[in-house]
Amino acid sequence: MRADLVLLPGDGIGPDVVAAAVRVLSQVSSRFGHTFDIRSRLIGGAAIRAGLAPLPDDTLSAAKSADAVLLGAVGDPEFDDRPPSDRPESALLALRRELGVYANLRPARVWAGLEDAGPLKPTVLAGTDLVVVRELTGGLYYGQPRGIDSDGSSAVNTLRYSRAEIARVARVAFNLARTRRGRVVSVDKANVLEVSRLWRTVVTEVARGFPDVVLSHEYVDAAAMKLAAAPASFDVILTENMFGDILSDEAGAICGSLGLLPSASLGDGPGLFEPVHGSAPDLAGRDIANPIGAILSAAMLLSSGLGLEDEAAAVVSAVEETLRAGLRTADIAPPGSQAVGTTEFAEAVVRRLGTGPSTED
Ligand code: NAD
Ligand code: IPM
Ligand code: MN
Repeated sequence: MRADLVLLPGDGIGPDVVAAAVRVLSQVSSRFGHTFDIRSRLIGGAAIRAGLAPLPDDTLSAAKSADAVLLGAVGDPEFDDRPPSDRPESALLALRRELGVYANLRPARVWAGLEDAGPLKPTVLAGTDLVVVRELTGGLYYGQPRGIDSDGSSAVNTLRYSRAEIARVARVAFNLARTRRGRVVSVDKANVLEVSRLWRTVVTEVARGFPDVVLSHEYVDAAAMKLAAAPASFDVILTENMFGDILSDEAGAICGSLGLLPSASLGDGPGLFEPVHGSAPDLAGRDIANPIGAILSAAMLLSSGLGLEDEAAAVVSAVEETLRAGLRTADIAPPGSQAVGTTEFAEAVVRRLGTGPSTED
């Protein structure tokens, strides 16, 4: 296969972890005989520093014409005092909206060997394997009106969802549940918010078309508690934009590190694949960030973006074997143990991918 991939490394550790993911993609292309044409473009603080807008036109058009897009992270403390519309983060929000990637899949599972890496008892964590399906192009992030009054005395954001926006992401969650353990928990705040009442109504309607999937509803506060208390009880968590943002970081901490979590943002055009974590400015450029979230995002790019299921599975196995061999970046290394860097971890994954089918096992 020939595929046109666009890289948006962005800010902070974005370039570090994207470089790691690209090493893995290159190995996949040589081992499986594919040609990936890879172009890199500026986004976020990196674009602002080059005298461009946070999302330059050239970046947006490259992304729109690509087969898939791999993004690192955006955000830099240097620009923290700017209004939301001029910050690096605005580029990511605009890109998601422009690509129409309304369904953001954020899988979180406990990896063999990492049962002790997070704050939960291994007995509580055992069996955790869930996916947050986060609505990504609506809700509070995009609702109008928004802004701060000119005298600074008050500010407004708007939470609005249409039936159509709720129904299409719900269908993604139910279809996904069919390929997994057949359970969807829809998370809302229907005891307080009208939007959540509509959310619950529409999700319940969509569920009638999926009689084989078991739907339950949970308020977001209770869901956050249950995620920490009994993470293995979840299969697919379906929720709106803001709640999904928060719950997926919580899922990262539970599984051992935010650096472990990948994501796929899907719509009708090219998909956007990015780790769940941010630019972690404290770690940037030091070759210590965990590249697993980015490498597994590349695996999701292969499967959901390009339909290359075997290639994606080979990447996941290589990560699994690298962890099983005991390699750990600093965020998941036991206290006092020797951690490996971003590059060394990625190279170990590349070695396990091998150069041809015969070397895989
Ligand atoms: P963050 O995700 O960057 O970091 C949170 C914590 O997790 C930090 O302690 C960090 O060191 C750690 N961490 C994150 N990724 C890691 C990795 N790969 N390996 C090891 N440790 C890792 O969130 P933040 O500190 O709240 O935000 C920093 C900047 O990133 C902000 O500007 C924010 O807006 C931006 N951000 C961007 C994205 C994105 O581009 N998708 C996501 C979240 C935050
Ligand atoms: C994420 C990030 C983004 C979000 C920010 C950087 C706009 O936190 O992808 O989780 O809130 O969606
Ligand atoms: Mn987030």
